[in-house]
Amino acid sequence: MDTIAPSNPNHDGNLITAEGISKTYQQPDHAGRLVLDHIDFTLKEGEIVAILGKSGSGKSTFLRVVAGLTPPTEGTVTYRGQPVYRPAQGIAMVFQSFALFPWLTVLGNVELGLEALGVPREERRQRAIAAIDLIGLDGFESAYPKELSGGMRQRVGFARALVVNPDILLLDEPFSALDVLTAETLRGDILDLWLERRVPTKGIIFVSHNIEEAVDIADRIIVFGSDPGCIQAEIQISLPHQRDWTSPAFRRIVDEVYTLLTTVRGREAGRRGSRADTLSLQYRLPDASIQQLVGLLEVLTVDPFNGRADLPHLADSEHLTTDDLVVLAEALQLLGFAQVGGGDIEITVVGRSFADADMLRRKQIFAEQLMRNIGFIAHIRRVLDERPGHAAPEARFLGELEDHLSEEEAGRVLETVINWGRYAELFAYDYDRGVLSLENP
Ligand SMILES: Nc1ncnc2c1ncn2[C@@H]1O[C@H](COP(=O)(O)OP(=O)(O)O)[C@@H](O)[C@H]1O
Ligand SMILES: [Mg+2]
Repeated sequence: MDTIAPSNPNHDGNLITAEGISKTYQQPDHAGRLVLDHIDFTLKEGEIVAILGKSGSGKSTFLRVVAGLTPPTEGTVTYRGQPVYRPAQGIAMVFQSFALFPWLTVLGNVELGLEALGVPREERRQRAIAAIDLIGLDGFESAYPKELSGGMRQRVGFARALVVNPDILLLDEPFSALDVLTAETLRGDILDLWLERRVPTKGIIFVSHNIEEAVDIADRIIVFGSDPGCIQAEIQISLPHQRDWTSPAFRRIVDEVYTLLTTVRGREAGRRGSRADTLSLQYRLPDASIQQLVGLLEVLTVDPFNGRADLPHLADSEHLTTDDLVVLAEALQLLGFAQVGGGDIEITVVGRSFADADMLRRKQIFAEQLMRNIGFIAHIRRVLDERPGHAAPEARFLGELEDHLSEEEAGRVLETVINWGRYAELFAYDYDRGVLSLENP
């Protein structure tokens, strides 16, 4: 297969070089919001790089910037030495949502990738059929997306990307919408195509939220930190492919990534121990329900964990996805109930006293931890204390959150704040009127 790639004799040998990439999204009635902060990144020839990070850490935005689909606010991306200003030929992308056209057949969807390139009709057809074969959809050319299973639809997504003989593949959680077995099969097939060099692709950037999946296929893992999105850590993986998921070396890397993803760090951690009224506020809160938090604390205190658990093991035994556990572990750390280190989560003294307490005492401990550690809740409580009538519309607090978060995230955080605050009886909430108050909290 031929590769469509511009050549530039002066380039630095990297497939992709991103330098000082920052991205600020302008929101309708708010100031700009920084979602990527000075990202430096390279993709070398022959590499698969996985990007992991919490939801909202800017992974998709970064991929779109690399693809030339979104301009960065600052910084430059070069592809084989050429600046990327618009969707570059030679770079193809696969999305989690498949993004197929329902009114087109499999063949039509795959051909579409070539239409934009001005490939003549007959050649389009031949190449599309070849890509469909390659990806294992032989015989389904005239089927419509709705007639296919999720796994087959995503195969169409891959065929559409591969039909252009991409030099670089950008994959944005391509397996996340699939069930575990389907995801595993498709992932294995894609990895085989790559390892057996049946595709001309020279480099892959791959966003995932599944740690084991990333450790399975990546040569290098980049961990994104949040608020704003930045590169928090980088892990080189030198294990040969067809990796054994149970080997100590594999588990060690999984533990390491788990720790990086679940550790509350930097600004957030630095503030713990300082007084609520002086701390700068953390606006993004993990949306963990009280029920889940209490459940996990209880599980952690008793056999077989007795206060300390290996994170991947805990996820397995409690049937939690990585994403769920990351959210819960972050919440427990913010609240001062647990600490994460070395791939383990460990309950703190306060966490244990909470788990051991009766319901009333639990609420008191929770209230103390909220006032001490969650600045935004301490702030709400202060506003309510000071207001005549001790009540305030939720819209006021939502507005404050929206200055720092997207509308959707602000809504989610307010919901968490209200749930946590009500449980702790720090304030009451009237659903019908949307009012927070100190009335019989
Ligand atoms: N088009 C957009 N306009 C405004 N904000 C956006 C837009 N796209 C994403 N965001 C915000 O930017 C942040 C990063 O989003 P995203 O790149 O999708 O993160 P991830 O893929 O890591 O979950 C999020 O807070 C999201 O709400
Ligand atoms: Mg994303």
